[in-house]
Amino acid sequence: MSNQLCIVLDFGGQYNQLIARRVRECGVYCEIKRFDTPIDEIKALNPMGIIFTGGPNSVYDESSPHISKEIFELGIPILGICYGCQIVAYTLGGEVSSCVKSEYGKIEITQSGGALFGGIPEKSVVWMSHTDYVSKLPEGFTVTAKSEDCPAAAFENPEKKLYAVQFHPEVTHSEYGKNILRNFLYNVCNFKGDWEMDNFIDAAIARLREQIGDKKVVLGLSGGVDSSVAAGLLSRAVGKQLTCVFVDQGLMRKDEGDFVEETFTKLFDMNFVRINCKDKFLAALKGVSDPEQKRKIIGTEFYNVFWNKIREEGTDGFFAQGTIYPDRIESGKGNTAGHGSTAVIKTHHNMVKMPDDIKFEGVIEPLGDLFKDEVRKVGEMLGIPHDLVWRQPFPGPGLGVRIIGEITEEKIKVLQEADAVFRDEIRKSGIESDLKQFFAVLPDVKTVGVMGDHRTYDHLIAIRAITTDDFMTADWARIPYDVLARVSNRLTNEVEHVNRVVYDITSKPPGTVEWE
Ligand code: XMP
Repeated sequence: MSNQLCIVLDFGGQYNQLIARRVRECGVYCEIKRFDTPIDEIKALNPMGIIFTGGPNSVYDESSPHISKEIFELGIPILGICYGCQIVAYTLGGEVSSCVKSEYGKIEITQSGGALFGGIPEKSVVWMSHTDYVSKLPEGFTVTAKSEDCPAAAFENPEKKLYAVQFHPEVTHSEYGKNILRNFLYNVCNFKGDWEMDNFIDAAIARLREQIGDKKVVLGLSGGVDSSVAAGLLSRAVGKQLTCVFVDQGLMRKDEGDFVEETFTKLFDMNFVRINCKDKFLAALKGVSDPEQKRKIIGTEFYNVFWNKIREEGTDGFFAQGTIYPDRIESGKGNTAGHGSTAVIKTHHNMVKMPDDIKFEGVIEPLGDLFKDEVRKVGEMLGIPHDLVWRQPFPGPGLGVRIIGEITEEKIKVLQEADAVFRDEIRKSGIESDLKQFFAVLPDVKTVGVMGDHRTYDHLIAIRAITTDDFMTADWARIPYDVLARVSNRLTNEVEHVNRVVYDITSKPPGTVEWE
């Protein structure tokens, strides 16, 4: 990557990825590295700026992450945030003490000048979250901001280009947080701001062409955001040398398989292979109602079909996949601290092991350096349709986890129709952007109803809509009653075999987003 580089050294804080994203939003390419990355490795990367993240520890715990003094002698500007700020003070001979009163939440600071605060009012609100504070500055430093309970909310040693803030400029609750980061990046480190997505696309296409040469590339396309954008980018780079394999197990939403096929055959130059194998999946799932067993069967069948097609297509060339930067970080391939609260491993379909007999010349991950919002931006610039680029999370086993009990062709059809009606009504009601995910579920329940003069005994449909920041916790969405009324009316009138509708009012925890 030829962009100027900023390094975020990960001390285990919960906002580390957010810091990196904010830096990139400022137009500066940035990578997250472990706090104990050897100094020689850091020097070899030639960063123009380094940011120390926060972390859950106290600098006086022996087991907490520390850093060698050498890093301060490289002449590279450093910004310490929260724990990172305390590490700057502690390592250079200052003192850190326990707060008499911990600061948590929005706190007013008063700044008194310094490079980080250029153009920022004397008083502003920042987000604090700390129980230790810097009680004595190292030699050569001066305080540049304080709060009522924190005498060194920010400090600096401009001669050595070292800066520190006790608060979190990366979170939006810090009023001028982004300005502070920009001041560090542009006025202290002198970045020119060369990280833009159109530059990325040009550079990525050139790199892919060079790497692939005249060889073939195979990509598993799921219809999700990441694999779709990877497909678009590879297509722009090598056209017909790319083969996308799309396994349609018949468990996607209504018309979704056709939409994916149409998008990639009409808008992009590539070989598009769609494998329709609904019957095979239904046969394997016959009589199975245990959720875990269903997931296992769907996963196993999927990879059987997929790898067999790959064997058929041939493995001379490259295998591509839509891995993105957070996947690499979370699977430990992203070279971060894997420390404390950030050490979460995501089971991701990108991370499944390739069978031993399948050997490609190499694996290509064209989006491996991008965050999700950057992937979406690239997708839009490549002309991938809005519905694909902004697609909601959709589980790998598809509607299979939204049909409770045995999966049958009839149930798939009822759920697809119901889900399409629900989504359509939400869109028309203008509340779509308030919801992070919304879908219909088909519980294994039939109830008695009445239609005209007839008694009915038909399916119950549950609808689920959530709001969430990170999908780890979620709240059920307060959809207006009149919207719920229209959804209920339409579902019972328009979808055959539905005679009752319930709304899921369970938050996560104790529920999960999906029902299985
Ligand atoms: P849960 O149900 O665990 O869902 O609260 C959290 C988020 O993850 C999505 N989800 C999946 N995504 N493969 C995926 O790629 C899966 O097997 C899977 N299961 C759940 C779910 O839709 C929600 O957004």
